[in-house]
Parts: sequence; C-alpha cells; structure tokens
Amino acid sequence: ALPTSVKLFEMAPRDGLQNEPGDPVPTATKIELIERLANAGIGHIEAASFVSPKWVPQMGDAAEVMRGLTREPSVVYSALTPNLKGLENALAVGVEEVAVFGAASEAFSQKNINCSIAESLARFEPVLKRAQEAGVRVRGYVSCVLGCPYEGDIVPSQVANVAKALYDMGCYEISLGDTIGVGTPLAAKRMIEATRQYVPIEHLAAHFHDTYGMALANLYAVLEEGVSVIDAATAGLGGCPYAKGASGNVATEDVLYLLAGLGIDTGINLQAIIDTGYWITGELGRKPSSKVALAKGRV
Ligand code: HMG
Ligand code: MG
Repeated sequence: ALPTSVKLFEMAPRDGLQNEPGDPVPTATKIELIERLANAGIGHIEAASFVSPKWVPQMGDAAEVMRGLTREPSVVYSALTPNLKGLENALAVGVEEVAVFGAASEAFSQKNINCSIAESLARFEPVLKRAQEAGVRVRGYVSCVLGCPYEGDIVPSQVANVAKALYDMGCYEISLGDTIGVGTPLAAKRMIEATRQYVPIEHLAAHFHDTYGMALANLYAVLEEGVSVIDAATAGLGGCPYAKGASGNVATEDVLYLLAGLGIDTGINLQAIIDTGYWITGELGRKPSSKVALAKGRV
C-alpha cells in the first residue's frame, strides 16, 4: 500500500552540484541554494560532502558552506563523510547528520571510493562509532542497486547484503541508489522486496537518478511497496563523477507533483521549489530538467 506521508531528502546542493563541470560553483551560491530549499519547506537537505577535493573538486568548500549557512532549527543539514577524516572535518563545523556511501558493485566501489566493498564496510565501522559518540546520526547509501556502469546487472541479493551490513552497523536509514538510472519498475520492486527482508521498509529510501526517464515510474513502484523516503534534486541537477553519462536525481518538482496527485502531503511549497530550480539553473547557465518546472514556469 502507498505510504500516507513521505519524507523528501533534497540532494541538489550535494549530488546536484558535485559533478558540475567548469569553475567551482561559488560558496555563496551553494549557501543561497540551501537556504532557499529550507525556506520552501524542505526538512532534510544534503548540504555538502567531506570527500577528497582531489576526487571531487566541486565539494572542496564543504566546511565553508556549512559554516556560512544560516540553519533553520527544524531542518536537518547532512553531509557525506566517506572516512574518519571526512567525519572529523564535518564534526568540526557542527554537522548534525552524516552519511557513508558504499556500493552493491565491486567495480563501482573501487572507482568511487578506491576500495573493495568489504574494505569500505570495515572503513565505515569507526566512522559509525565516532559519529555515535558525537551524537550524530549516520545514513548509509548503497550505489548501483539497479545496475552498474562497469558490471551491468546487479542481483537483488547483493543489494540486500550490503544494505543489511550498513543497517546492522548502525546506519539509521539505507538509501538505495540507482546511480545510473537504468532501472525499471519491476526490477525496482524486486530489489526492495529482497532488501526489506533485512532492513525494515520504513528505514529504506529510494535514491533514483533519471538517466533513462524511468525514475518516476520506479518511484511509484517502490511507493507501492511502502517506501516512504525519497531522495530528489531540485531542477533534476546532478550526476556522479564516477558514473559517466549518468544524469541527475529525479527532480524534486516532479516528485512533489506525483505525491500531490497521490494525496500524499509533504508540506513543501512546489512553486517555491520551481522558482529555486529556475534560479539555480540560471546561475549554472541552463534550464531545469524538471518537466513540471517547464510546464508550470516560474513566478
Ligand atoms: P584515497 O585516495 O584512497 O584516500 O581516497 P587516502 O586515505 O589514501 O588519502 C589520500 C589523500 O586524500 C590524502 O591526502 C588524504 O588526506 C586525503 P594527501 O596526503 O595525499 O595530501 N583525504 C581526504 N581529504 C579530504 N577529505 C577526506 C579525505 N580522505 C582522504 N574525507 C576517498 C579515498 C574515499 C577519500 C576518495 O576516494 C574520495 O574522496 N571519494 C569520493 C568520491 C565521491 O565523492 N563520489 C561521489 C559521491 S557518491 C555518489 O554520488 C553516489 C550517491 O549519490 C548514491 C547514488 O547515486 O548511487 C551517494
Ligand atoms: Mg546519487
């Protein structure tokens, strides 16, 4: 059955901007984006990424972004922390929630975080322990849950195993990433069915990229499974630097329109998100890739 409410986790400042080619997006622009998203009523925002600036130059100002932000007390601002160094840097600027990110594909794990799946899990253990000591919640990502740019098909049991490992380690929520947006609804359902055997459905999130235009269909399929946390990026921004050709997350505007049609309220102001999407893509020199934004236009 469909969930009665959905938590939307906004990805534009991190997943949306991490792969932006060319000059670094100014820190002030990132901060304005995050503040606009919060003002539109979004309660969870992935604001930054404490990764190696050699690997992902666009996220090199993570500390400045977190320090410069005016934080709304009702909003959770989270950040990626792949290792202890990232976590310490995040804690130093008062980040209140972090995320570790693994993969269901060995080849993607190597390309993205330079280690095997098993090594990544061993590396996350001390991150979880240190975060718990600091009273900081940890989210866990699994990438390539519906396909890998290097290995092709990924079996659902492999996704389930990695999700279980992250959950058992103490991640409060497991976000399942169709990193390259190749999934289709039945495959998405089967992947959730395998994973929910180990991780309760209320602790699973859908993180779907829209490369093949399937993200909304896949989301509807997993909503029917009872998934109630959706990751999305305003204007459909983004892509992963270690997954060539992958486009952005499903657009927040399109998800809000879908949810409204299903009678599921999020408390988020769709028009404010549309306007934010036009503003940020204007800064980047293009148009939103959200169909809803294009249809409704800005105010
Ligand atoms: P490594 O090179 O194996 O790390 O990278 P290392 O421990 O050997 O360190 C090498 C150098 O990096 C050292 O500096 C470290 O200090 C530095 P040097 O001594 O050479 O000057 N370093 C760091 N600097 C800043 N912050 C850190 C950090 N760690 C080490 N945290 C590492 C390993 C994981 C760091 C690297 O591979 C990396 O940063 N990868 C990040 C890749 C990434 O950000 N990908 C995109 C995000 S994931 C994603 O988009 C998918 C998702 O959206 C879900 C989905 O769609 O599927 C989440
Ligand atoms: Mg992603």
